[in-house]
Amino acid sequence: MSIIPNNMKQFLSVHDVADLPQLIQEAMDHKAQPLHHKHAGSGKRIGCLFMNPSMRTRLSTQVAAQQLGMECIVFNVGADGWNMEFEDGAIMNGTTVEHVKDAAPILGKYFDVLAVRTFPGLKDRNADYSEHIIQQFVKYAGVPVLSLESATRHPLQSLADLMTISEVLKNNSIKQRKPKVVLTWAPHVKALPQCVANSFAEWMGAWGESEFVIAQPKGYELEASFTQTATIVHNQEQALEGADFVYAKNWSSYEHYGSMPSVPDNWLLNTTKWSLTNKAKLMHCLPVRRNVELPDELLDSSHSLITQQAENRVWAAQSIIHRMLQS
Ligand code: CP
Repeated sequence: MSIIPNNMKQFLSVHDVADLPQLIQEAMDHKAQPLHHKHAGSGKRIGCLFMNPSMRTRLSTQVAAQQLGMECIVFNVGADGWNMEFEDGAIMNGTTVEHVKDAAPILGKYFDVLAVRTFPGLKDRNADYSEHIIQQFVKYAGVPVLSLESATRHPLQSLADLMTISEVLKNNSIKQRKPKVVLTWAPHVKALPQCVANSFAEWMGAWGESEFVIAQPKGYELEASFTQTATIVHNQEQALEGADFVYAKNWSSYEHYGSMPSVPDNWLLNTTKWSLTNKAKLMHCLPVRRNVELPDELLDSSHSLITQQAENRVWAAQSIIHRMLQS
């Protein structure tokens, strides 16, 4: 076990991680010995606030906290609590009942770590990209805040994704070169946030150990600061050539914010396209709409890493919560 104390006061993005290879190793160590730190969180509580639905994030965080000996309390803000207000100076004569300025300090008294999931509205780009909701919890809670996915990023997902890639690389023969990792836009029936794609691109840039390519239709460019180290192409088949990992994900337009500009070509992956890759591993964060975003023939194939990625959400969460407990 190579766990070292780390002064982690928040986990909102890869920018909160000073030692990424060490963090990946810690996540792997937790996976190898899940209960090695079973007393680290003894007598401590984590509060998980969900403003949006979740399966993997909710359950993996609960499992992770319990394996650290910590109590985890989940609160579904929209369903269980008062509608929360986030605007400074708001005249609260509408549907919102409780201001985050009042709620967050109380949560900081109840919990040692506060974890928050809040999706973007996909209407006001500036508001979403200011991360004003999760930032207000950081400002007012007074305890470490952990993102369970926010308006622009999904850092626990990205950590689990990078851990999964690292596990595969440990066991295969791509040793002489950097692996080619392709993030490809995939079709969907509704407008989705850019969070997973932004975050994955940002973490791949921070990792720096891959040839990283983003394939996307025109009109779906991500915000440029997330993709500085990526090669961006608009031809999916060109991107797939020689790929070792292919991460499929839909996202809505950043430029025409939250919209779904029409796409003339067929961006749904299939086994014919897959033959262009270097027997690539398939990644997706889930949930996935089968035969809309990805076909059964790939999801059910030996190429798929989707279960391993979702399993690794536990170890990603456990490594971050453990660091917060040490801070
Ligand atoms: N990948 C992910 O975050 O899944 P959930 O929305 O189910 O938490």
